[in-house]
Amino acid sequence: MNREFDNHLSARSGALSVSKIREIAELGFDQPNVIPLWFGEGAWPSAENIVSSAVASLEAGDHFYQPNSGKMVLREEVVSYTNRIYNASIDVSNVTVTASGTQGLALVAQAIISPGDRVVVLEPGWPNISQTFEISGANIVTETLEVKDGHWHLDMSELLSALTPETQAVVLNSPNNPTGWVMSIEEQSTLLTHCRKYGIWIVSDDVYSRLYANGSAAPSFLSITNPDDLFISINSFSKAWSMTGWRLGWLIAPAQLESVLAMLTEFNIACPPGFIQQAGVVALRDGEDRLQALQDQLGQGYVLAASRLRNIRSVKFIESAGAFYCFFSVTGASDSMVLARNILQETGVGLAPGIAFGRAGEGYLRLCYAQPEDVLIEAFDRLEAFID
Ligand SMILES: Cc1ncc(COP(=O)(O)O)c(C=O)c1O
Repeated sequence: MNREFDNHLSARSGALSVSKIREIAELGFDQPNVIPLWFGEGAWPSAENIVSSAVASLEAGDHFYQPNSGKMVLREEVVSYTNRIYNASIDVSNVTVTASGTQGLALVAQAIISPGDRVVVLEPGWPNISQTFEISGANIVTETLEVKDGHWHLDMSELLSALTPETQAVVLNSPNNPTGWVMSIEEQSTLLTHCRKYGIWIVSDDVYSRLYANGSAAPSFLSITNPDDLFISINSFSKAWSMTGWRLGWLIAPAQLESVLAMLTEFNIACPPGFIQQAGVVALRDGEDRLQALQDQLGQGYVLAASRLRNIRSVKFIESAGAFYCFFSVTGASDSMVLARNILQETGVGLAPGIAFGRAGEGYLRLCYAQPEDVLIEAFDRLEAFID
């Protein structure tokens, strides 16, 4: 963008930077024979019953505006799903339907952040979290996940000392994109006690909650919070129900926030589309078998990816406990953007550079293994030959 035009932009939009994942993907879009493992989405389409419910809903005339907080039938389905999976006790006043996790995140930032508010986030982390809060004027403070004994680890005492009484919010994402780190229920409980004491919002990005290696759902604040705690869960149909292109998600928040979120929805998008919401009802109500199949598929993908990466001598592999990524470093490679570009040019495998996830991600690469076995084998054959 030229400098003169920058003067006509808001300071906040002028300060935004292009996603480095996108930057690499732009280079490879037109390259023949690319295996794209750079984005966070699986290779599989949405379930047939989800598709047919949207089609049926359109054919039945669901063409009109919806309530700001979402269709009541979907909000009720979110309530029964949440209470069933997490042993929670929410009701519809806690549920707002959103047009994706990304849009839910933006609504949350608009609802609770004033310019200058201190917000603590974790790194490496999904870049949209800090960028979205920065757009609302937050002053972002970063706490770093570290590798300990081959696993990603969060130093809780450091996190708690960063959460001073003036802090407005802490934003977490567990299972974490890109590392696969998962926060234990004990850590969540310690954090909740601290945040209750100082009146700090906990915002939990739970979009990978059901993509958990050790069970059907990752440990969740939803199991230990009360509906009126300063706690917001951001969720999405994208990952666990293979619905990235539908743009549908939901928030669980204190009932006092319901009217605020409804107003913000009115001024941002008015409402998510009705026929898409109808598909969401079917996903939550009838989606468990398909979700189990996805979990099994991802389990196999992880075993394959882990064993192939461990075999590459210069790769430092780190265990992941959830989501669908391997986040690894390569000995001697300190510039992840250069490395991802070289790998793309030389092998045609598209990986995300670790620097896209913050400075703590530099030196790493992220690979999404949500692909069929033959695609992964081909990708690792190419990577192995190049890296070693
Ligand atoms: C941690 C995290 N949260 C939210 C999202 C957004 O998901 P969507 O906007 O498709 O619902 C992503 C997508 O990659 C993500 O990694």
